Amino acid sequence: MSGSVVTIASLKGGSGKTTLACCLAVHWHLKGYKPLLIDADPQKSVMRLADRDQALGGVELLEQADPNVWNTIKQQSGAHGVTVVDTPGFDSDITVAALAVADLVLIPVKASPLDVDRMMDTVKTLMSGVKGWAPTFRCVLTQTIRGSVISRHVRAELEEGGFPLLANDMPNRVAYAEAGLFGATPSMTMPDSPASQDISAIATEAEALLATKKALTA
Ligand SMILES: Nc1ncnc2c1ncn2[C@@H]1O[C@H](COP(=O)(O)OP(=O)(O)OP(=O)(O)O)[C@@H](O)[C@H]1O
Ligand SMILES: [Mg+2]
Repeated sequence: MSGSVVTIASLKGGSGKTTLACCLAVHWHLKGYKPLLIDADPQKSVMRLADRDQALGGVELLEQADPNVWNTIKQQSGAHGVTVVDTPGFDSDITVAALAVADLVLIPVKASPLDVDRMMDTVKTLMSGVKGWAPTFRCVLTQTIRGSVISRHVRAELEEGGFPLLANDMPNRVAYAEAGLFGATPSMTMPDSPASQDISAIATEAEALLATKKALTA
């Protein structure tokens, strides 16, 4: 997956974009994949987290919250195993720019009907924003409660609507916020924890999608 770009996007605020972006980048850093984590959100959530003690384990960071991030991603991604881009939680030129160069778009979506409707808007808006864009995208269910009716229902609704989902969710776990207090992710502080395993499973799915894309375009 060398040189691949994974953009995390959603029009819905608080869906888990920054958490997923940081967790994936740190996971790949710990695996030695030399990731680059780009904070393209004017809120600077990634940079604020990295300002804390454990500095996201020393993962390489870059901050650029303007549409020229497109250029930066193009220039930087070749020198990294994978580039992960965190985007703002609203319809923005920055998000469109980060999508235009993505090999894989991950769309975190909370398991609630309101979030699902907004997610569908996200995909339509994103599709219309980038000319000729034929993305590989997957929704990722976040903050799910294991075995809950709503999680199963939302998953089924998305699948019926033709919105592809990763098989693995990012369940609701306090471990993310706890690790965040120290500027860390669960993969750093609790490598064997369920949260760390969730991220590993999501990363493995992303790697497979990126490998397929590379194979198809090579
Ligand atoms: N799987 C999870 N389990 C528990 N809490 C979570 C999970 N994912 C995210 N959170 C929490 O939800 C809140 C919002 O997450 P996050 O900041 O990652 O969302 P976001 O989509 O980046 O938001 P914004 O749109 O403001 O950028 C945070 O407090 C985070 O710790
Ligand atoms: Mg965020």
